Amino acid sequence: MTDRDSSTYTHDDNPYLQVSSFQGTTGPVFPREILGDGNLELEIGFGRGQFIRERATNADVRILGIETKRKLVYLCDQKAKQQQLDNLVVMHGDAREVIARMTPDGVFQSVFIHFPDPWWKARHQKRKVVTDSVTEDIVRLLAPGGHYFVQTDVDFRADEYLKILQAHPNLIPVEGDGMASENTFLARSSRERRAMDLGMPVYRILFQKK
Ligand SMILES: C[S@@+](CC[C@H](N)C(=O)[O-])C[C@H]1O[C@@H](n2cnc3c(N)ncnc32)[C@H](O)[C@@H]1O
Repeated sequence: MTDRDSSTYTHDDNPYLQVSSFQGTTGPVFPREILGDGNLELEIGFGRGQFIRERATNADVRILGIETKRKLVYLCDQKAKQQQLDNLVVMHGDAREVIARMTPDGVFQSVFIHFPDPWWKARHQKRKVVTDSVTEDIVRLLAPGGHYFVQTDVDFRADEYLKILQAHPNLIPVEGDGMASENTFLARSSRERRAMDLGMPVYRILFQKK
């Protein structure tokens, strides 16, 4: 998985502690060792895992999910096993820290971040996921032509994310200024479905690596 000397998976009796984790690991992370070869994708903060499992029903895709909540990793992994999805790997960790260690550049065809918000409180701002530095790593890890897709239902966050992606010199919008009219990835997240069911707006931001 990573630097073989220093990386270990954590294990204990608590099932949530038995999930594969990046916690306590250091050194490079090789997505191809985790997922194998093929059309590799990454989802950051998969939550209940609806998008990642639906996406993985597409046999062409091999997808890695990173989530900070161990319980959600465990539950998604259980469901993925029931569905016999062997092209999906879910791991616990802070994706912001893990992607900075990922190598080689250009390894992913798509990176997804669905509803990473809202972080209303000032003291929660440090938990933000779509930042300049995360975007820098994501762009580095995308293959030329690869997709960076962010969704949110918070309008001012959408503006903020759009500006971050627009400002990156190696990203180009797929439509217009970067707001996408639809999710074309044949899968939807729980938050996305809920917003759509309630008739709330979903702001979709889609760019491609040059
Ligand atoms: C609002 S929920 C959205 C869940 C799902 N993406 C959806 O659209 O239904 C945000 C998720 O991102 C996870 N998360 C937040 N920061 C993260 C980080 N730095 N690395 C990995 N996951 C993170 C949270 O634990 C939570 O499950």
